[in-house]
Amino acid sequence: MMNRPSSFAHEHLLHRLYRIQQQCRHIPPQAMQQVAIDYQLPLSQVAAVVEFYAFFSTHPRGRFDLLFSNCTSCGYLADGENLLQILCQQLQVIPGKTRADGLVSIGEASCIGTCDHGPSMLVNGFPVIGLNAVKLAQVAQLVANEIPLPQWPAAWLEISDTVYRRDLLLSERLIPGSALQHALRSGASETLMIIQRSGLRGRGGAGFDTGKKWQLCREAAGETRYVVCNADEGEPGTFKDRLLLHEQAGAMLEGMTLCARIIGAQQGFVYLRGEYRYLLPHLQAELEHRRKLNLLGVNILGQIGFDFDIDIVIGAGAYICGEESALIESLEGKPGIPRIRPPFPVTHGYLAQPTVVNNIETFIAAAQIAMHGADWFKTSGTSTSSGSKLLSISGDCEKPGIYEYPFGVTIRQVLGDCGAADAQAVQIGGPAGTLLGATEFERTIAFDDVSTGGSVLIFGQSRDLFAIHRNFAHFFAHESCGFCAPCRIGTQLLKNSLDTIAANRGSVHALEELQQLGKIVKHQSHCGLGHTAANHVLDGLRQFPQAFSDRLQPQFTARFDLDQALADARQVAHRDDAAAHLDQKR
Ligand SMILES: Cc1cc2nc3c(=O)[nH]c(=O)nc-3n(C[C@H](O)[C@H](O)[C@H](O)COP(=O)(O)O)c2cc1C
Ligand code: SF4
Repeated sequence: MMNRPSSFAHEHLLHRLYRIQQQCRHIPPQAMQQVAIDYQLPLSQVAAVVEFYAFFSTHPRGRFDLLFSNCTSCGYLADGENLLQILCQQLQVIPGKTRADGLVSIGEASCIGTCDHGPSMLVNGFPVIGLNAVKLAQVAQLVANEIPLPQWPAAWLEISDTVYRRDLLLSERLIPGSALQHALRSGASETLMIIQRSGLRGRGGAGFDTGKKWQLCREAAGETRYVVCNADEGEPGTFKDRLLLHEQAGAMLEGMTLCARIIGAQQGFVYLRGEYRYLLPHLQAELEHRRKLNLLGVNILGQIGFDFDIDIVIGAGAYICGEESALIESLEGKPGIPRIRPPFPVTHGYLAQPTVVNNIETFIAAAQIAMHGADWFKTSGTSTSSGSKLLSISGDCEKPGIYEYPFGVTIRQVLGDCGAADAQAVQIGGPAGTLLGATEFERTIAFDDVSTGGSVLIFGQSRDLFAIHRNFAHFFAHESCGFCAPCRIGTQLLKNSLDTIAANRGSVHALEELQQLGKIVKHQSHCGLGHTAANHVLDGLRQFPQAFSDRLQPQFTARFDLDQALADARQVAHRDDAAAHLDQKR
C-alpha cells in the first residue's frame, strides 16, 4: 500500500530516534550528532529529547528489552508474586540494567493500557499480556533461545477488547462520509451551532465545551489551523481509547475532518501513545481507505477547496504528553514540557497557530452529533453533562472491560454491573482523579459530580490502600516533567514520605506533613499533572486515615536509615561483616 508522503519536511524527529533506538538498542552520541546535522538543530536539543522520553536511552538496552507495567491493575505485583523479580532471577538480570552479554534488559514502565488483561509488559515496545509465573518460565526460555517476538505464542500478543455495555456511541456505526455530507449540506456555521447546542464537552478529562473550543479556534487570527487528536491515553487504568482506535478509527478521523471543515484547517495529527504502536498498521490502512473514498485529501467529497489530511505521530513513553500543550511541544519534536498558558492552543497551538486538541471520544461524539443532531445527543445524560461516557473498568471485579453509560449513572450501579460486590474503594479518573469510599458510591459520573477521562480502578476489601497510594506517588514522581519546583520536588517528597512510612519509619507527624506537602503540590504547580498529583493522598487522608496512621511509629524513630544508606559504600569496599554495619553490636 502506498502511503501519502507525510506533511513533515523530514521524518518526525521522534520516529527517527525510535528507529535508531531499535537498530542500536540506544541512541549513540554519533547518531545524535548526525540527527542534529540532518534536522539543523543544536545538539543540545536532540540530547534533551533523548533524555526526556522513557523509550529512548543513551546506554544500550537488551536485544530483548522487557518493561513490566507497574500499574495497580496490569502491574507485575500480581497475587503477592513479584513477577519482575521472578523473571530477573530466571534470566540473571539486575532490575533496571542490561545483562552483560546484551541479550536482555528488564525494567518498569508506567501503565501500558492493558489493565483488562492482567499483568503485562512491553517486549521491545509491544505488549505481552496475561503474565503469571508459569508464563514467565516460558518467556525466559524464549528470550534465552533468542526467539523473535513475532514467533512467540500469538495469544500473548492479541489485545482483545471486551465491551460489556454499549450506549449512544458504541451502538452506532458511522457510514464513512455520512457526517461530512450532513455538514456540507448544513454549512460550517450551522454544524458548529449543532455541536454547541448538543452540550458536548471534552471527554479527555477537563470537560471543556467542545463547540466553544472550535468556535474560538475558528475565530482566532492565524495563517494556518490544525486539528490534533489526543490519542495519548496514559492515565493508569484507561484503555477505552484503545477500543475506539480498534473499532471506530473511521469515526474518529471523520470527527477530525468535520472539525477541520468548521475551523478551516488543512492538516491534522493523531498523537498516538508509543505503547499503542501495534495499532499503527490498522490506523494507516484506515487513513488510506478514506483517501481512496475522497474523505481525505484534496476537494473532499467534491467540495472545491475542502482540503485536509492527517499524519500519525507516535509518542515515546511520557505521560505528560497527554497534557495538550506538552503534546503540541512533542508534535514539534521537542521534550513534552507544558507551556505557560495563556495563550491557549486555540490561538497559539502547533507552530504557534490556532489549534484544536480533542480526545478521540470527543471527535467521535462530534461526528455522531453532526449526523444525528443535537437533540439525539441530549436524550442521554444529564442537563449539564449530555451524552454518554466510556469507562475503562479494571481491578478487583469479575468483569473488567469497557462500559458505556449515560452521564448521571451512580458509582454503585457501575460497581454492581461489573461484579465488584466487595469494593472498599474506587479510584475514578486514574491516580489524578478522585478516590471514593463506600459512603460515596451514590455519587454520579458527571462533570458536576465525579468527572473522569474514563479510568475506574476498583479496590476490594483485601487490598492494602496504603500500597495503592505508594504506587500512585511513585507514578507521579516518575512522570513529573521536572519543569517546575513544586511538582518536581513535591512529588519526590510525597514518594519519599510514603516510602519512609512503608519502611516503618513514619513519625506521628507524618500525616500532617503529607497534608501540607499535598496542598503545596496541588496549588503551586505549573500544570494539570502537578495540580492533581496529590489528590489521591489528600482524598486518602480524608477517607481512609487509618490506612496511613496504622503504619506510624508512636515512639521517636529516625526517618533516615544510616546503615542502609551505607550499603553502596559496603558494596564498593566488598565488606559486609558486622563491623561494617552501624547497627551491629561488636
Ligand atoms: C497530565 C495530563 C495528562 C493528560 N492526558 C490526556 C490523555 O491521555 N488524553 C486526553 O484526551 N486528554 C488528556 N489530558 C487532557 C488534555 O490536556 C486536554 O484537556 C484534552 O486532550 C482536550 O480534549 P477534550 O476537550 O476532548 O477532552 C491530560 C491532561 C493532563 C494534565
Ligand atoms: S506541574 Fe509537574 S509536569 Fe507540570 S510542568 Fe510542573 S514539573 Fe512539569
